[in-house]
Amino acid sequence: MHQSDSANRGTWNSKLGFIMAAAGSAVGLGNIWAFPAKAADNGGAIFLMVYLASCFAIGLPIMIAELVIGRHTKKNPVGAFRTLNGGWFPPLIGFWGLICGVMILSFYLVVAGWTAGYVLEEAFFFAGFPEWATWFGDLENGPKNAIFSVLFMLGTIVVINAGVSNGIERATKVMMPALFLILLAMIGYVLTLPGAMEGVYVYLKPDFSELTGQVVFSALGQSFFSLSLGMGALITYGSYLSKKQNLAESAFYVTITDFSVAFLAGFLVIPAMYVAMGQGIQIFTPDGNLVAGGQLVFQVLPAMFHSMETGAGVLAGVAFFILLGLAAITSTISLLEVPVSYVVDEHGWSRKKAAWTIGGVIAVLSVVISFDTGLIGTIDLVFNSIGLPLGGIMICVFLGYVWKTQNAILELEHGFEGIHGSWFKPVWTVFIKYICPLLIGSVFVTTVYGLFS
Ligand code: TRP
Repeated sequence: MHQSDSANRGTWNSKLGFIMAAAGSAVGLGNIWAFPAKAADNGGAIFLMVYLASCFAIGLPIMIAELVIGRHTKKNPVGAFRTLNGGWFPPLIGFWGLICGVMILSFYLVVAGWTAGYVLEEAFFFAGFPEWATWFGDLENGPKNAIFSVLFMLGTIVVINAGVSNGIERATKVMMPALFLILLAMIGYVLTLPGAMEGVYVYLKPDFSELTGQVVFSALGQSFFSLSLGMGALITYGSYLSKKQNLAESAFYVTITDFSVAFLAGFLVIPAMYVAMGQGIQIFTPDGNLVAGGQLVFQVLPAMFHSMETGAGVLAGVAFFILLGLAAITSTISLLEVPVSYVVDEHGWSRKKAAWTIGGVIAVLSVVISFDTGLIGTIDLVFNSIGLPLGGIMICVFLGYVWKTQNAILELEHGFEGIHGSWFKPVWTVFIKYICPLLIGSVFVTTVYGLFS
């Protein structure tokens, strides 16, 4: 029974396959839709710097923590914490992650649906049907939003049903490199447009007077979301890993890939913003705030595509939104995989039944949000900006003081032979036990205090 249980859970086929899948989970709408808007809203270069620090000083150690918990227990987040400690509280950390994941996925599908709508928006625009283009590009169009969100969920369920290595691993291996290439090509193009250099300047030259608590809170939250941390997605992905894999090294590759894609997306969108401003599109209010962060990418990039010649414009516009949709689906897969693995492990459901049932419930939530996109902001604040860093603190405290870092190091040793003599061991220990929880905690207390005062 036990043997077939773990055989049913699946494993990654190769070292690169896992890195691609984890990078696919990380790289998504967070990098291309959320990151440039947050950077533009929070001082550009200064946000980029804090974000970089947050990815490597806080995100990376916690990513390693999640992977090590997952591989050691070979379980979903709830089961993993329960296995490591019999108390009543640890499984709640897993449950909290599950709830955050379900809520994040419910609005993520709507945004993913927007990208799919824009594939058709671009196609119809260049084919000479502007009314159709406007219909598909309307972010408030409830029925359209609902249809595309549900389609996205169906796509996600199909990949999840195909299983770990056949579905998730195969899908991500092709999509990731394609995304990288198209981003590079478009950056090359945008930099030739008038006004783009002003954007490059804002993006790369820090103004330290813009460094505020809000910038730090926003960058920290963004790094959790973008690296898929704090809710157990990487505990789950870690549970499919073999003992041969070096977890620290893999986590480093995933972090650097994710950061690079966000960096490139900023390099595309922020210059494109300034190009669009030159064309008379209003991006900032008179007091310097972004008109609408969530709509930035959907305003600025189509404006750029539409100004191109037909052939190149339709190619760039359609290809870009297809790839963004593919990047989104490798992320929705990881969000759905967490509750699916929970009912498969803990309640003995089949993978199929789990994916259809949980996927169905989340699809219903996404339909509700489709008709009232204003809900996105609130759900995002509670389950992403607050929920994920909170999960991150609990993971650090659990690993550092309940399971204990010495035990985690014994697990990390598999695949990382020189760990005992290396600098990694003391540094990671100090980050997990002290630096990460204290930094997240202090950012948190300051911001939450600010919210209510
Ligand atoms: N990281 C993804 C993005 O940037 C979103 C995502 C996927 C996620 N899985 C997650 C966020 C788990 C938090 C937790 O688009």
